[in-house]
Amino acid sequence: MRDTTMRLRHLNGFDLLKCLVLAACAAGFTGLRAEERPAYLDPGQPRETRVEDLLRRLTIEEKIGMLHADSKFSTAPVPRLGVPTRWLTDGPHGVREDVGPHTWNPAGRTDDYATYMPALSALASTWNVDLARAYGEVLGEECRARGKDILLGPIADIARTPLSGRLYEYFGEDPFLNARFSVNYIRGVQDHDVAACIKHFAGNNQEMGRATIDMDMDERTLREIYLPPFEAAVKKAGVWAVMGAYTKFRGEHCAYSDYLINKILKGEWGFQGLVMSDWGGTYDTRQAVLGGLDLEMGTLTSGTEEARPYKDYYLANPFLEGLRKGEYPMSLLDDKVRRSLRPMFAMHVFDARKPGSLNTPEHQATAQRIAEEGMVLLKNEGDALPLDPSRVTSLAVIGENAVRHNANGFFGAGVKTMHEITPLEGIVKRLGDRANITYSIGYTKLGGSNLIERAVAAARQADVAVIVAGLNHSRYLDDEGWDRKNLRLPYDQDELIQRVVQANPRTIVVLISGPAIEMDPWLDRVPAVLQANYPGMEGGTALARVLFGDVDPSGKLTCTYPKRLMDSPAHALGTYPGTNGTLFYTEGLLVGYRWFDTKNIEPLFPFGYGLSYTRFEYSDLKLVAGDPPDDPVVTAEFEIANTGRRAGAEVAELYVRQAHPGLPRPLKELKGFEKVLLQPGEKRKVSIPIDRRAFAYYDPGKNGWVSEAGDFEIQIGSSSRDIRLHDMFPLAYTTVEK
Ligand code: BGC
Repeated sequence: MRDTTMRLRHLNGFDLLKCLVLAACAAGFTGLRAEERPAYLDPGQPRETRVEDLLRRLTIEEKIGMLHADSKFSTAPVPRLGVPTRWLTDGPHGVREDVGPHTWNPAGRTDDYATYMPALSALASTWNVDLARAYGEVLGEECRARGKDILLGPIADIARTPLSGRLYEYFGEDPFLNARFSVNYIRGVQDHDVAACIKHFAGNNQEMGRATIDMDMDERTLREIYLPPFEAAVKKAGVWAVMGAYTKFRGEHCAYSDYLINKILKGEWGFQGLVMSDWGGTYDTRQAVLGGLDLEMGTLTSGTEEARPYKDYYLANPFLEGLRKGEYPMSLLDDKVRRSLRPMFAMHVFDARKPGSLNTPEHQATAQRIAEEGMVLLKNEGDALPLDPSRVTSLAVIGENAVRHNANGFFGAGVKTMHEITPLEGIVKRLGDRANITYSIGYTKLGGSNLIERAVAAARQADVAVIVAGLNHSRYLDDEGWDRKNLRLPYDQDELIQRVVQANPRTIVVLISGPAIEMDPWLDRVPAVLQANYPGMEGGTALARVLFGDVDPSGKLTCTYPKRLMDSPAHALGTYPGTNGTLFYTEGLLVGYRWFDTKNIEPLFPFGYGLSYTRFEYSDLKLVAGDPPDDPVVTAEFEIANTGRRAGAEVAELYVRQAHPGLPRPLKELKGFEKVLLQPGEKRKVSIPIDRRAFAYYDPGKNGWVSEAGDFEIQIGSSSRDIRLHDMFPLAYTTVEK
């Protein structure tokens, strides 16, 4: 009873209703003798036994009800059997505010605040996978407290073009890094009895034309670049839900592409969970039924916004009628229902479930830590940073982003937060009354005369100027549904920065944005640039701690910053945004640094790059062979020393290059990384295991991963372009793995 009371404290109205229904149903069964209690209500039974038991009790109509939405973010309950409403929620950065039920407008609740975490691009920039786990845990706990069953995250789409409007929601351009972060995020969420839903399988690499565009890519590119995070999510993290992308793959919508869903995801990888559509991403009953879609969400039917006829969804009455006419076997329906039921049992929907917690100081502390570790110091000439708080007597803070709130992002990435510490607030809190702080907006979306002049005047009178520039989730500026038009800063910010630095050479530029920004007009003149990403609700505090040296910046880029947009592959090859409805992935494997390195194009800032306030030295690389055929094949062991005067964390990156590959390969590929925190003068041994898959490429002729006997160079770097140690490793024998 005490347990129940405690749990109820964390429940919202929807969840409470669910609990009461379940309790009433279960109470009906508790009068029965143990042997008469349905197996599906018995936590002692194996999961599949419970699934089969519940499945056989459901009517065909009840089964159909599990395959489609009954509001914006839910599916219908089956009260007579105690099957509760299933609640889904965005998004990747925090549990989204409740909408609807039948509109995108906010529900107007007062209990749907949640921790607003730094964006996924910030999380990935930490290169600290423990933080991905912690991030997932926050979301899992908050989902439970908000009564949610499936979290629509993480996003594992690859950053193919720097223009993509959702890059800030992505982990970056590298599949290995994406996979590591996805896996830990999912584990964190699912540890709290909430199913994660990795999205968008597989593609959606740009917003332009996302609902219709057909992706044309070769098999190797699919397998080596776009699928690995999803494969790892299934095989390593046991993810329970996958969302199909809006895009098409080889002519079929991704959410029911026979090849992607039936053959690869469910067939080759053995995925047992459910595949859902993206909202409004279903267009045909037969294709959806046969192509492997298990749950249809967000379809725009002919009803009014307030009363959508959910029974008209493609997987609702049209499927039911088809079943009744014998057009589809019942086994197909049952397979789809099982895929809904398995996650419910795995997440203990019918049992004692973890209660969760919301907006706790611990969650906020996690948000702050990730924001701090995710900030990337791009330039720091003459040790312009950190600022010494005891010496700065006057500071000019400039820029709309210094006071802007970003929590309400856009669409699925928005969160209703209890507070959001802005950069200005963070700086004021950190400096207190020790310094004279002025604020000038400098630019706005709407323009305005004299804004630059005023900022310049303020900068001229201050010891230091901090310009908080960047993008802001407005249309075309880090916004779902709209790609950016170019990589430049909007609203005269380039001019503002140039003018301010002319007035005060001690000008620090802080960027609040997703990756990447062109900095041509001012980079040479500005001594320090810090990429702060979208740092979440504690972002201002985190930023001030980095600027004033309370914490060392240890983030590194997960996307290459090109000097010019036209240097990046999709643009250099003219394949963006597609031709006549088709998006040709002509660059193939050469996405991000794979392109820049292989083609020898100098980036503005390379993948894996980020400075620190201290210095690190690498030494003593040893390649220690493993015990074949077990993994790891080899372990790279080396030492890192902090030779500076401050504590700091370094990310060591491991790249593999095959000397004479049977098929052409990129110049190098990330296959490992490790972040180490070191005190001044401290030296530590780092070990990075390398599995067989790290040596392999996908050979479409053999339908498998081929690791060829021969020489491989193991490179250890501080970035993809700053390799500090390297050695050759002879792989003894060739293998082909499925
Ligand atoms: C987005 C998804 C999101 C869904 C529900 C779609 O527009 O692509 O990522 O989960 O909306 O909000």
